[in-house]
Amino acid sequence: MKIKSAQLIYFSAAGTTERTACLIGEGLALPTQGRNLLRQPLTEEWALPADCLAVVCVPVYAGRVPALCAESLRRLKGEGGPALAVAVYGNRDFDDCLVELSDLLEAGGFHTVGAAAAVAQHSIFPTVGQGRPDGEDAAFLARFAAGGEAAAEALDPAAPPALHLPGGRPYREARSVPLHPSGDRRCTGCGACAAVCPAGAIDPAAPKETDGERCIACAACIAVCPTGARAFRGPAYRLAQKGFEKKCAARREPVAFFG
Ligand SMILES: Cc1cc2nc3c(=O)[nH]c(=O)nc-3n(C[C@H](O)[C@H](O)[C@H](O)COP(=O)(O)O)c2cc1C
Ligand code: SF4
Ligand code: SF4
Repeated sequence: MKIKSAQLIYFSAAGTTERTACLIGEGLALPTQGRNLLRQPLTEEWALPADCLAVVCVPVYAGRVPALCAESLRRLKGEGGPALAVAVYGNRDFDDCLVELSDLLEAGGFHTVGAAAAVAQHSIFPTVGQGRPDGEDAAFLARFAAGGEAAAEALDPAAPPALHLPGGRPYREARSVPLHPSGDRRCTGCGACAAVCPAGAIDPAAPKETDGERCIACAACIAVCPTGARAFRGPAYRLAQKGFEKKCAARREPVAFFG
């Protein structure tokens, strides 16, 4: 199948999933466009032509595709074209995320011709996987891009490749993270955090506070805050961070899957 272009589609709050998608894009010999589903969710169906390679990158949230991201991906349609499924995780594990992402893509009419689990700095505990994706990750993602483009060109829709992905069905239960960022006295009230929050958890009139019922702990507000006022903080956070750093200290390596 002659592939004419690629669409980088990602859900990125703290920026590493976007960076991963861009590194894959740089490794493709195709014209590419990009869309961040966190900032521009799909509110209606979006169909990609069959000669477009969809590169779909999602962060792993508690071993799953983030629910808000899955909501958008259910509106993405493939018309029999190829897709690369990429789960970006914070050096703990990707559990059922890649299987779930591939299932979402197949249900939308794509053929998943390749998949990868890539590692990035953890957005809640940034000392875990700190600085990743790094140079070695970038080299892996360039190789993955080349392999993915070749697999897309080789796609025969009558006999699509069968990928064997780690992870199971039914997927592990979706769990929310009971940690939420807040603002401190450096807050100037600029409203950037409330504008970016995908869950409507910040009232622009009181941006130091967070609605814990709505917050999905994505860290987008921390990434955009110009003064460094918003952060995960408090004794419960520090305790969780200590345990998590210990548990996830060993470096994990990215891995690719082709049929
Ligand atoms: C709510 C939440 C849950 C997460 N769960 C996991 C997990 O199960 N395994 C893991 O290795 N990393 C986990 N992470 C880390 C993210 O997968 C990782 O930091 C990802 O690169 C974030 O993407 P972003 O920088 O584009 O926002 C989690 C992060 C968040 C915010
Ligand atoms: S982005 Fe930062 S400075 Fe701006 S309102 Fe939010 S917490 Fe305050
Ligand atoms: S308040 Fe929660 S959901 Fe909203 S951007 Fe911040 S971490 Fe994400």
